This record gives sequence, structure tokens and C-alpha cells, in this order.
Amino acid sequence: MTEIIEAIKRSAIRIRKAINEEELGYAQSANSSGEQQLKLDVLSDTIIEEELARASSVKTIASEEKSDPVTINESGKYLVGYDPLDGSSLVDVNLSVGSIFGIYEGSFSGPNLVASAYVVYGPRTELVVATIKAERFRLEGEEFVFMQELALGDKGKLNAPGATQKYWYPHHKELVESLFAEGYRLRYSGGMVPDLHQILVKGGGLFSYPGTEDKPKGKLRKIFEVFPFANIYEKAGGYAIDESGRRLLELGCGDIHETTPCFFGSRYEIEKVKEYYEKA
Ligand code: F6P
Repeated sequence: MTEIIEAIKRSAIRIRKAINEEELGYAQSANSSGEQQLKLDVLSDTIIEEELARASSVKTIASEEKSDPVTINESGKYLVGYDPLDGSSLVDVNLSVGSIFGIYEGSFSGPNLVASAYVVYGPRTELVVATIKAERFRLEGEEFVFMQELALGDKGKLNAPGATQKYWYPHHKELVESLFAEGYRLRYSGGMVPDLHQILVKGGGLFSYPGTEDKPKGKLRKIFEVFPFANIYEKAGGYAIDESGRRLLELGCGDIHETTPCFFGSRYEIEKVKEYYEKA
């Protein structure tokens, strides 16, 4: 496990430099979700693949930018699913983006996730790793220095509602509005990593990416985005559920690019989600 975390750190340092210095613009390709790839998506994917290939415990990698998993070392123990540069369309407007990693044993599914991590490329570069606890580090020079253990409170003040409002189901709209009516403040950049990081660091709130009339299964991918963050929220004392109130980490996965509606937050807000969704 340590060598995988070290590979993630080396990748983060290289991707930070690429974001700062490399050319923006589109590559000549689309990813398997049909999204046009940026040159930075492709470069970040290559960097992570190169660094994970140096970790002998990694058997298979699956990237949001690749259509299928790739076995890199038959005798490795772990499978790593990653989103190399989540929210990459925000780079041109200079908002924060991130890399997300899920480490699995056996196969890619919620119950098989054993650890996860993400990197936020913001004004500073930070790394959060969740094995037993959720721990936050900051890049200083070439070193990631420990900052704090992340712990969510019982209730927060932030509301980060994703997806196209026009297609929200009525019960979802009521949920979001009820939180605003209680005084919650809107925080939504359109980057999953900084949006979820903000709630974690500020100690509570709700991030939701629901199923909608146009996309009943939501947008966020289980293996690369949802399961890794579900683990981090739970390790920080929070909750991560789907639209039926089930723990996200109990969900299986068919195709590696499968998506699911998802809700991440502290106890109070997740209880609210259950209340409004049970009424639906
Ligand atoms: O998966 C890509 C992504 O950019 C996430 O980082 C983010 O949470 C989401 O899409 C934003 O989607 P929308 O603009 O539909 O709310």
C-alpha cells in the first residue's frame, strides 16, 4: 500500500507541474463516456500509469480515460481505479481540479475498496489519504507534509447540489430548497474534488449528484469517483449513500464506467436526504 501512496504522490507532483506549464486544448480523442479529452487529461493519465507501473503491488489499473482495465503486473495484489484529472474543463478558467484514486482488492466494487485518496490542485496542492483515518497533507517543495486528520461534524452549513436543475426530480428540488431555507449556503464549483474537499475541511454539509429525468443513474462514476470519496467521507465520520439510502460502498459494479446517484455529507444532511427520498 505504501508504494501505491508514494506513486500517487509522485504523480501529483508531475501533474501539478503539467497544469502549471503545459498547453491547454483538446486532444484528438474522446473518453469512454463520450467526453472530449483535453491534452492535460491524456497527459495526466499517462503520468499516473507510468508511476503506478513502478509499484509492484499493482496488478490492474482502470482509468476514467481508458475504455478497459489494463493488467500491468500479474503478480500484483491491488487494482487501482483513478480519474486522472477530474473537472479538467475548469483548468482554462483557473479553478481547482483534482485526481482521485480508489485501491481495490479482488475486483472493482464498493465492498472491495480498501483505501482511497485524492489530490486537489488549487492555489496549493493537497493530498487526502483514507486508509484507517482520513488524513490531509500539503505539498511543500517535493514533500507532502501532514496537516490534520479530517473529521466531519454532525451538521454543516454548505450545500453543493450537482446536475442540471431543469431535470431534477421534484423531491430532490424540495430537499435542496429545504436546506437553503434552513440557512445553508451554496458552494458549487463544478469540480467534484474541490467541492467535496471544501465540505470535508469546513466540517460538514451536503454534496449531491442525483439521478435526474435525463440521467436517472447520475453522472459520477462508481469506480473512479464515487467509491473513493464514499470511503473518505466514512473515514472522516460522515456518510455516503445512494438514492435508496444504501451505503455507496455496498454497491457492486458491472461495467467499470457505471455511474450512480450519490450523496455525501454529515449525519444531519444525510438524514434529510433519506427523509425526502423516502417520501418520493
Ligand atoms: O465528473 C466530472 C465533473 O466535472 C465532476 O468533477 C463534477 O462534480 C461534475 O462533473 C459536475 O457536473 P454538473 O456540471 O453536471 O453539475
